[in-house]
Amino acid sequence: MNFEKRRFTTSPPTTFAEFILDEEKCTGCAKCVKTCPIQILEMKDNKARPNKRYREHRCITCQNCIAVCKQDAIQIKGDYRVHRGLFKNDDIFPDTKTMPEPIEEYKNYNFEDYEDKLTETERVIYKRRSIRLYKKKPVSRELIKRVIEAGRFAPSAGNNQPWKFIVIDNKETIDNLDMEIRNALRYITYLTVAHAERDKKTPGDMNARLSLWQKAILPWIVRKNPNDFDPRVTGGGINAPASDPDFHIFFRAPVLILLLSDYRGIGKTHLDTGICGQNMTLAAHSLGLGACYVGLIDAVRYSSKLKKMLGIKHPFEIITSIALGYPQGDLDKSVAREPARIDWLD
Ligand SMILES: Cc1cc2nc3c(=O)[nH]c(=O)nc-3n(C[C@H](O)[C@H](O)[C@H](O)COP(=O)(O)O)c2cc1C
Repeated sequence: MNFEKRRFTTSPPTTFAEFILDEEKCTGCAKCVKTCPIQILEMKDNKARPNKRYREHRCITCQNCIAVCKQDAIQIKGDYRVHRGLFKNDDIFPDTKTMPEPIEEYKNYNFEDYEDKLTETERVIYKRRSIRLYKKKPVSRELIKRVIEAGRFAPSAGNNQPWKFIVIDNKETIDNLDMEIRNALRYITYLTVAHAERDKKTPGDMNARLSLWQKAILPWIVRKNPNDFDPRVTGGGINAPASDPDFHIFFRAPVLILLLSDYRGIGKTHLDTGICGQNMTLAAHSLGLGACYVGLIDAVRYSSKLKKMLGIKHPFEIITSIALGYPQGDLDKSVAREPARIDWLD
C-alpha cells in the first residue's frame, strides 16, 4: 500500500451532501426525520432541520427523506466525496448522481413520464426504498412465508442454497434484540468515536478529537477492515444507534427475518444469501409490504450471548437481517444514484 493510502484512514478530507429544505413547502409532518437511517435530522420550530448531534455532514445520500416527502420540500445537494487517502472516491465518481435512465430515449424525463414503459419488475426495482416507517399492524405468517419463498428460489453457486431463516414476529423479542445490539455497538464506539462526542444525545464538542491511543490503533484496524470502518459508519452510523435511547435499529417493525448462511457451502455463500435477501425484499415490496436490510445485526457475530439467545449454531453464521412490515403510506419512490462505472471492452 502506498504512502498516500496509509494516510487519512481516519477523518479524511471529505465533501458531504447538504440537506436543503424549502420551508414554505414543509408541513412539519416529520416523516423525513423519522426515516433518516442515521438520525441527522430533527424537528425545530415545526420544520425539519439537520441536527448537530451527529453532524449533518455524515449524510449517506440515501435520499429517503426526499422519497417520503409528499410536498417535494427536500433537496440533497452535492455528493459524498473523499479527496485523499484510503477512502478516496472523487476520481472514481467524477460525476454527480442521476435518476434512473433505463430507456435512452427518456433520459431526461421524470420517472413518472416513462414508468408505464417499464416492466413490473423494473418498476419495483427502481421504486423500492428501504422502509423505516412501519404500521403496528402484524404481518400474517402466510405472507411472511410468501416472502421467504421468493428467497428460496434465488440462484446460488452450484445450487448450494446455503441460507437459513430465523423469523421473529414477537415485539418483545425484537425490542430485546435491539437493546442488546445497541449495547454491543457501544463497545465499538469506544474505539472509533471521539469520546467527547460519544453518548451525546445533544450536540457534543464539534471539534472533539480522537485520543492518542485511538489514533495509534485505528489506522491499522481500518486498513484491515475498510468495509466496517468507512468514515460514514464510524461517524453517525454507529454512534447514533449506540447512544440515542429513542433509536430502534429495527425501526419497530413488526417482523424481523435473520438471514444465516451455512459456512460450508459452495463458493461465496455470503453472496448467495445476499441474492436470496434481494429476492425477498423485492417480493415484499411487490406485495405492498415494506422492508429494510439491517446490517447492524452483524454484532451478533461477536456475541456468544446473542448467538445463544437466537439459537445460532454451527454450521450457520449470521449474514444480515431484514425488517418487514406494512409501510406507513406509500413510501416507495425513485431516487438518484451514483453513475454506473462501466468499462466497455471490444
Ligand atoms: C447489506 C445491507 C445492510 C444495511 N444495513 C442497514 C442498517 O443497519 N440500517 C439501516 O437503516 N439501513 C441499512 N441498509 C439500508 C441502506 O441504508 C439502503 O439500502 C441505502 O441507503 C439505499 O437506500 P434504499 O434502499 O432506500 O435505496 C442496509 C442495506 C444493505 C444492502
